[in-house]
Amino acid sequence: MKVLIVGGGGREHAIAASMKKSSRVDKIYCVPGNAGIAQIAECEPSIGAMEFDKIAAYAKQKEVDLVFVAPDDPLVGGLVDVLQSAGLRTFGPDKKAAVIEGSKAFSKDLMKKYHIPTAAYETFDNPDEALAYLETASMPVVLKADGLALGKGVLICNTIEEARAGVKEIMLDKHFGNAGNRMVVEEFMVGREVSVLSFVDGKTIKTMTSAQDHKRAKDGDKGLNTGGMGTFSPSPFYTKEVDDFCREHIYQPTVDAMAAEGREFKGIIFFGLMLTPNGPKVLEYNARFGDPEAQVVLCRMKNDICDVVDACIDGTLDKVDLEFEDNAAVCVVLASDGYPVSYEKGFEITGLESFEGKEDYYCFHAGSGFDEKGRIVTSGGRVLGITAKGATLQEARKKAYDATEWVGFTNKYMRHDIGKAIDEV
Ligand code: AMP
Ligand code: GLY
Repeated sequence: MKVLIVGGGGREHAIAASMKKSSRVDKIYCVPGNAGIAQIAECEPSIGAMEFDKIAAYAKQKEVDLVFVAPDDPLVGGLVDVLQSAGLRTFGPDKKAAVIEGSKAFSKDLMKKYHIPTAAYETFDNPDEALAYLETASMPVVLKADGLALGKGVLICNTIEEARAGVKEIMLDKHFGNAGNRMVVEEFMVGREVSVLSFVDGKTIKTMTSAQDHKRAKDGDKGLNTGGMGTFSPSPFYTKEVDDFCREHIYQPTVDAMAAEGREFKGIIFFGLMLTPNGPKVLEYNARFGDPEAQVVLCRMKNDICDVVDACIDGTLDKVDLEFEDNAAVCVVLASDGYPVSYEKGFEITGLESFEGKEDYYCFHAGSGFDEKGRIVTSGGRVLGITAKGATLQEARKKAYDATEWVGFTNKYMRHDIGKAIDEV
């Protein structure tokens, strides 16, 4: 098989690494890719993930057998529809189904209609009505821009003053662009967060092992929200009891709800869950692998990823036994100091060769590229996802942090408490 992966971050590197392990894959292409993916795939950096026609033409030219669309923007924008109409076999939800991530108002209405547990909410198209509502709401309250906002369109407001400022930021100043034309105001929930990713074929859902992200930029969950500063898998807080509840009330009901709405979902559904004192509730849905959740989940998957993807496309997922190793993985993101606000890039990354031939250690590239001399340099906020597997979460964490020392670049920044919560178990 020849496969094309769309995207160019750490998640796509992890997907490419899984594909590379498949005995069925002869050649991997990636657009735009990055310097790490380029070690195992042929990348085309001149084609962006939102250039739908160019991607279709490239896939045809390379005669690929499968296209795997990984990031949220092209999924929500309808790349899968474009590729399928061009006759290309494509993995990922079509535009109608990807709205589960593309519109928070849609996903909240879906959960309400089908009795899927989630926080209470109201939706507003008009800032004055939102402000009037907030005057009587109890604090803290959560404001969410309806559309995609790089995972940053969520504001937790502790006071009415913060809430007023939040409405201004989202709906009036359009901090997140058109994503803020509509806004969801949500009840604040307390609890432990867990992510569960799943493969879906339209009818059947098979969940993967659990994971937990660390979204804030600084130690102790301080600082701004980021795309994710590190992950661990599995989550010790995701117990059998929680799993049973979610299977009955959340996972299959979500897949059935999408089908009932005429939006049959084929691809990955990512369930962002809050384990509240009143039981698990859905924080959000994503229509794709998380980044850096994919890095800790895929390296533990025993199945050939191509078999699972084929089953999703063909509607035969019920025949697949999804299996994960009985171990743990931790991913620590090495970022450019200053991320997610402003940072310098173009610094040489050294020590990458230390990962060669080391079992259970992975250096997934996110923001890396080549300079004019062909050296690998930093090119983004999140640069590398240093990942290690171990028999236990503690061992995986120690190995991942040890490996963060193997690589160097100017302004290298990381959190030091990824997976610290596991000590509380
Ligand atoms: P989302 O993109 O909807 O997952 O929101 C980003 C982050 O904001 C989540 O991972 C939570 O940490 C936090 N968050 C979102 N909604 C709520 C809520 N209703 N209550 C408490 N925290 C929330
Ligand atoms: N790490 C969270 C996300 O990919 O949305």
